[in-house]
Amino acid sequence: MKTVRTVEELREARRSLAGEVGLVPTMGALHDGHLALLAAARAENDAVVMSLFVNPAQFDEASDLAAYPRDEERDLQVAAEAGVAVVFAPSAEELYPSGYQTWVEVEAAAQGLEGDLRPGHFRGVATVCLKLFTLVQPTRAYFGQKDAQQVAVVRALVRDLALPLEIRVVPTVRDVDGLALSSRNGRLGPAERGRALALPRALDVGAEAYRRGDDPVAAATAALDGLTPDYVSLLDLDGALVLAAAARIGTTRFLDNVILEGDLA
Ligand code: PAF
Repeated sequence: MKTVRTVEELREARRSLAGEVGLVPTMGALHDGHLALLAAARAENDAVVMSLFVNPAQFDEASDLAAYPRDEERDLQVAAEAGVAVVFAPSAEELYPSGYQTWVEVEAAAQGLEGDLRPGHFRGVATVCLKLFTLVQPTRAYFGQKDAQQVAVVRALVRDLALPLEIRVVPTVRDVDGLALSSRNGRLGPAERGRALALPRALDVGAEAYRRGDDPVAAATAALDGLTPDYVSLLDLDGALVLAAAARIGTTRFLDNVILEGDLA
């Protein structure tokens, strides 16, 4: 596995890859959810490129950026074991050099839910994804279902700018207790973790209600067990209907969703 840190080195490493290339964009702190993305990318492509970049442009709170978990040594080991051919781990200055001034704004898909709660978040995501797509020129890029609105934003970006790649969505990976895996879960103490579990449970209650013909949002909201949500909402993702919810416990935000109808893949 090659680790490259500059645009120049990435271009050179990319030229040495033959056939179809899968890109897995990450911010590191790799967990089994990332391993599922890497496994899907390996299965469907000749080579896998993984980016490892905590993108400052998508953080709306400096404290969240500062607290974001980082362990590059471990991440590189995990990536090598997962069969990644090239890791792109640039500095912030490499991707946003002095004088940087070009940003990508996706409109409708980036509005509401996370877009309203985290101003500028999806502008940062869309910009870094476009830059990674342009640099890596992948055949396919892999994203997790957990960040369903991010999937909608990235799909809109690819569709609107006619980018020549396919976006693949990999189902959410959960811990045995049902909590969706997230790089931020490590910040939770045991009591907070117990409270966070109300989110996936409530979404299951919402999905059951939908199957019975009842209102999934009302049912999930009522089942939150005292947890105050940032939102519980339906999201139409290119024809798939998703019940999405987010909540904050202490300083940590959690997102989760279940598919009510259709398919995100
Ligand atoms: O989902 C993430 O980890 C990030 O938003 C992404 C796609 C790597 C862009 O920085």
